[in-house]
Amino acid sequence: MANVVVVGAQWGDEGKGKIVDWLSERADVIARFQGGHNAGHTLVVGGEVYKLHALPSGVVRRGKLSVIGNGVVLDPWHLAREIASIREQGVEITPETLMIAENTPLILPFHGELDRAREEQNSVAKIGTTGRGIGPAYEDKVGRRVIRVSDLSDDRTLEVRVDRALVHHNALRAGLGLEPVDRDALIADLRAIAPEILQYAAPVWKVLNEKRRAGRRILFEGAQGALLDIDFGTYPYVTSSNVIAGQAATGTGIGPSAIDFVLGIVKAYTTRVGEGPFPTELDDADGQRLGERGHEFGTTTGRKRRCGWFDACLVRQSCAISGVTGIALTKLDVLDGFETLKICTGYELDGERMDHLPTAADSQARCTPIYEEMPGWSQSTEGARSWADLPAEAIKYVRRVEELIECPVALLSTSPERDDTILVTDPFAD
Ligand code: GDP
Ligand code: IMO
Ligand code: MG
Repeated sequence: MANVVVVGAQWGDEGKGKIVDWLSERADVIARFQGGHNAGHTLVVGGEVYKLHALPSGVVRRGKLSVIGNGVVLDPWHLAREIASIREQGVEITPETLMIAENTPLILPFHGELDRAREEQNSVAKIGTTGRGIGPAYEDKVGRRVIRVSDLSDDRTLEVRVDRALVHHNALRAGLGLEPVDRDALIADLRAIAPEILQYAAPVWKVLNEKRRAGRRILFEGAQGALLDIDFGTYPYVTSSNVIAGQAATGTGIGPSAIDFVLGIVKAYTTRVGEGPFPTELDDADGQRLGERGHEFGTTTGRKRRCGWFDACLVRQSCAISGVTGIALTKLDVLDGFETLKICTGYELDGERMDHLPTAADSQARCTPIYEEMPGWSQSTEGARSWADLPAEAIKYVRRVEELIECPVALLSTSPERDDTILVTDPFAD
């Protein structure tokens, strides 16, 4: 049976939520494996809009198991609020439909405070984070002082873990001019939220391996995108986790041999939220038009997304790093009506042509894109559900994208609606 990993191939917001929701009809289990509620995944089903941050996009389909893997960082209070709000939309969430890995690290309120204090106080090093405490929580995981889901089940362990974390955090807070954390209040809050979280806790690695052996199909849902990866992204303007396909294995406890298809999600142009280099960024009327037609405002923070032409050089790099088998090309409809479209095929740096984005931040910032131009199309592609509905120029654009990124298109998306999707190759096919 095929298992599929979905990953973003740009700077996030490629439309992963829509594609995961569409694919989840064919899957039995949908698992998040990294990131946290910095993600914002939007699904539109028959006009009803669902915005998911910590919950996997599979929750809206009945009878599927949604999993939060150990590679995620989880804010328990946020999760409780998200569950309550999604239930109000008629979605059923029970310990039978949601499972959280026992070894998942928790995001605590002081992580968010630290994240925001750093962003506010140090404008030189501003990353433009979502302010959700993601970076500080991952720092604590690697620093061996994070509190994990399983720690919630024992009062004594919880106290020891909190004390260990606070030795570090109170020293940091003093340096930033923040009050020390109220230890007893934090422990009381954690004890109060514990039953809410523990009802979903499970050894996810074991459950997933049993499901796999029983021939169930697992869909791994990535957050963010390859250019935000902690190792391969535009460092330091990145998120604090590995977001590429290899992380699906370590972030859930299933071996890499379980992964049969890596689906890269690729927007037909480029966007980015937050600071950092962006070679094809547009400050002109074309950029404005992409932002307006694409409704490019962040799902999590509401910030305006920066917009630019499609960067084939970057996507080729992302596809290589994640071992992408095929891509889902989204938001093709946003390009309707442009007379001419530009595609970046490489960069110029100090008089030389580059066929990849260099690693040094300074060089990244100085790369200027080399473009080729293609004719646009005047007809609408919005809502198209078959190749036959696409104008010839749109098909040529898609074919050229495939050539330049050296990867075939498996799916095409032409509107936010679940069913406005064209299937070329089924990632779940054996
Ligand atoms: P994600 O973070 O990768 O899940 O993407 P977001 O949900 O943050 O942002 C993608 C936005 O584009 C959402 O508002 C989607 O509803 C919307 N979207 C997804 N696919 C398409 C598409 O093919 N066409 C258009 N016009 N919008 C789309
Ligand atoms: P989805 O899953 C787009 C960006 C932030 C910031 C950087 C670090 O919806 O694609 P963080 O809060 O993670 O420490 O912020 O990463 N970022 C995203 N940009 N989509 C996302 O998720 C993002 N998650 C984080 O804007 O630049
Ligand atoms: Mg998003």
